[in-house]
Amino acid sequence: MTSTTKRLIIFASGGGSNAEAIINYFSENDLAEVVLIVTNKKEAGVLQRADKHNIPTLVINKKALGRKEYLLPALAAYKPDLLILAGFLLLIPAHLVEAYPEAILNIHPALLPKYGGKGMYGHHVHQAVFDNNEKASGPTIHLVNTQYDEGQILFQTEVALDPMDTPDIIAQKVLALEHSHYPQVIEQYLLDRLT
Ligand code: GRF
Repeated sequence: MTSTTKRLIIFASGGGSNAEAIINYFSENDLAEVVLIVTNKKEAGVLQRADKHNIPTLVINKKALGRKEYLLPALAAYKPDLLILAGFLLLIPAHLVEAYPEAILNIHPALLPKYGGKGMYGHHVHQAVFDNNEKASGPTIHLVNTQYDEGQILFQTEVALDPMDTPDIIAQKVLALEHSHYPQVIEQYLLDRLT
């Protein structure tokens, strides 16, 4: 790490495979490092991944997320440049969006604006893609505003779906794309902000 290394805080509610892809990517790249993992679930798999990489963790509930006077100093202590949502299921409160303008990124496992919004997460997304016989799906990486899945789109990519693909297979195909693209999109976003 150098004095100019950018500092990332990852927010995740689940297994954390995206979080780990980002940690691994930046462990070999001085541009950025993951300095904290925030979760709202004390049993989330992402906590074990954080431990494995010796990254500090913060477990917060919905109330703490909404409490500006608690959350902002707790995050500011880590001097983050970007907040990275990777499977974080709570709505980001307005106070956080205001404190980190254009500095919060999210990944959604479908081609927004399709299959986004409240209730469209995890398996629900891939089931809906399957039910509609979509020919392709893929992740969307976007800036976060106060509405679910509605901020400016930074990146999308897609994979062809086979009529035989079950929702689980669709999920696997999309997740593989998430792992290979999310770290690089974060890197490019940081580089764009530097110039
Ligand atoms: C990913 O599909 C992500 O797009 C979605 O939730 C899933 C999280 O997976 N929002 P993981 O926790 O990164 O393994």
